[in-house]
Amino acid sequence: MPLDIQVRTESPIDVSADVLVFGVLQTGSKGSSLPPALKSVDGALGGALSKAIARDEFSGKRDQTISLNTLGRIAAERLVVMGLGERKTVGAPEVRAFAAKAARTANAEKATSLVLVLPSGADGYLRATAEGLELGAYRFTKYFTGERRPKAELARVIVIVSGKAGAKAKAAVALGQSVGAAINLSRDLSNEPSNVMYPETLAAAAEKVAKEGGLKVQVFDFKEIRRRGMKLIDAVGRGSAREPRFVHMSWTPKGAKRKLAFVGKGITFDSGGLSIKPAAGMGEMKHDMSGAANVIALMAAVAAVKPKVEVHAIAACAENMPDGDAYRPGDIWGSLDGKTVEMINTDAEGRLVLADALAYAQALSPDVVVDNATLTGACVVALGATCAAWYANNEAAAGEFAAALKDSGETMWRMPLLEELREQIKSDVADVKQTGDRHGGSITAALFLREFVGDSRWIHCDIAGPASIDRPHGWAQVKGATGHAVLTFLAMIERAGR
Ligand code: BES
Ligand code: MN
Ligand code: ZN
Repeated sequence: MPLDIQVRTESPIDVSADVLVFGVLQTGSKGSSLPPALKSVDGALGGALSKAIARDEFSGKRDQTISLNTLGRIAAERLVVMGLGERKTVGAPEVRAFAAKAARTANAEKATSLVLVLPSGADGYLRATAEGLELGAYRFTKYFTGERRPKAELARVIVIVSGKAGAKAKAAVALGQSVGAAINLSRDLSNEPSNVMYPETLAAAAEKVAKEGGLKVQVFDFKEIRRRGMKLIDAVGRGSAREPRFVHMSWTPKGAKRKLAFVGKGITFDSGGLSIKPAAGMGEMKHDMSGAANVIALMAAVAAVKPKVEVHAIAACAENMPDGDAYRPGDIWGSLDGKTVEMINTDAEGRLVLADALAYAQALSPDVVVDNATLTGACVVALGATCAAWYANNEAAAGEFAAALKDSGETMWRMPLLEELREQIKSDVADVKQTGDRHGGSITAALFLREFVGDSRWIHCDIAGPASIDRPHGWAQVKGATGHAVLTFLAMIERAGR
């Protein structure tokens, strides 16, 4: 259920709610410059707030918080003051994260209603605020029963702005809620366990999004995957009792200026196959379809934003399992592109399904093709668990992507397609070898993918780290799937449409 979000201009003192969260900017001289609205709150509380501010040396630094029981002196039961940092460092991403933390705080307090006061100058970030509220309120609780069900859930939010609360504000909030809901859909798909979310059900989720958003969608079953010559998807998917699926969704508005294609790795469970993974942490591999979930969710956001850009989403969905009919190390397989691949390690399955998906995307002649995948553990070693890697084979496309990253505020670091590592994926028996050495593993995976994009302008994102998290980060306030990269892809689309 989406939150009921209203934008108002009245004094926060008079709005009754379970929690009142106040965003404040950092000021040089602490204490002395409480924003006027907070001064009147302090007055109503008999100075309890300024006391707490002095005691905690609260200066509005980012993530600094003060929490007080209001004892009935103002309409809201609890007051939380949150720092956002200095004004010059506060943009849409910071406001989004602030709103997310506020929503999470409300849920933690078992509150059903929240009053959120934006810091001065943030009225222009209502869309990001609504995104943050939806993202921060997100929890994956569907499998709890009885006592374990959440006792209360945030339902109503009143956002207090200093300027106007008219139709424009309402539209910004509605759009932000749709975008937040889309990213939460990606998180839901990824958080589902693999006994529920397998290629067929993931494809059905894409069909549902397409139907609700008025988008085109095609799903290829295993027979069609084989008929079309997607041999690498066949190789990866054949070891599972759950058949692979190939999904192609599209948004094709009249008068579109540009055409973008987004590709996602949809391994609904990655056991490693015959090169089986160790038991510890294997369950995390239910998230190995996060790239596919992201592109499906992206299309839900596209349906809401309705950009003047043609957008394609392609998801290569399979389960990687060991079996009597599974592909083996040493096998040589063809591909949709035609190139042959010497298999080394069946746990490097992501690059295989992506290779066929990229070859398919290339045939659509997009201006840029962008893939995203939980591709390598090496990437997590390189950049940590909260940062994705991105690669580009073209500087114009790289410029577009870098601009989109600025808009979204998502953490992604550009990595080089080092030509000197290309040698590692040269095969003695086939056109290309599936994997390289241990060192530079994220880069050699990218170099492998590059073999299948022809002369398309191409961006590759390795989201193995941030696709799921084990502690809150930014606007992702709970453990599990994040939908990391959807905001950036959406920003890229919106820029292309301007
Ligand atoms: N899905 C994994 C990568 C991964 C690791 C994602 C950790 C999220 C967290 C991928 O399919 C994989 O197993 N990659 C191998 C490649 C290797 C065999 C060349 C890896 O990174 O170990
Ligand atoms: Mn693997
Ligand atoms: Zn994998």
